[in-house]
Amino acid sequence: MIVRLIDEKDVQKNSDVLKVLIENCINSTYELEDIHSFSENKIMDLKQHIGNHSAYPIAAFERNRMIGFLWGYETNGMSGRALHIAYISVLERFRGQGIAKSLIQYAEKVAENEDLAKVELIVGANNSAALSLYKSMNFLPERLILSKSLQE
Ligand SMILES: CC(C)(COP(=O)(O)OP(=O)(O)OC[C@H]1O[C@@H](n2cnc3c(N)ncnc32)[C@H](O)[C@@H]1OP(=O)(O)O)[C@@H](O)C(=O)NCCC(=O)NCCS
Repeated sequence: MIVRLIDEKDVQKNSDVLKVLIENCINSTYELEDIHSFSENKIMDLKQHIGNHSAYPIAAFERNRMIGFLWGYETNGMSGRALHIAYISVLERFRGQGIAKSLIQYAEKVAENEDLAKVELIVGANNSAALSLYKSMNFLPERLILSKSLQE
């Protein structure tokens, strides 16, 4: 398995699998009605961000096939500069083999090279696989988003 930064050509060549990976990520946290247009738009955004050098898209490949994906970008919010992980996803049949872990380790190296002091992300409170992954990699909660449904 190879983990590396990807470019626009990789996105073009692997756009079908990237759509699935992005959709898996969204489905783990949200219920979107038109998930397919959402993922298509995200692929276009990704190409733009790569062109502007405003994203760190990292992918795992097995025999030249993309099997996992992490989309990181730099943020500079109230708590300082960080690498924010917007998406991380591994194709279902390749899960449980340490691929997400390798993608995050690669993102941590990218962050260090860019002098970013931390890596951060948002996770759905019920996404137990992702929560275990982040806990196993020593991510700690900083803030919590609380909500209360007003519908019966
Ligand atoms: C979450 C996800 C990325 C994990 O990918 P993965 O490649 O299977 O994870 P890894 O094999 O690297 O797991 C590393 C650690 O995470 C934890 N973990 C991963 N999947 C787990 C699961 N289903 N149940 C419990 N713990 C899990 C374990 O601690 C594991 O360490 P171990 O193998 O030593 O026990 C994958 O399940 C996925 O793509 N889910 C759908 C998309 C998603 O939810 N993305 C995150 C929110 S955007």
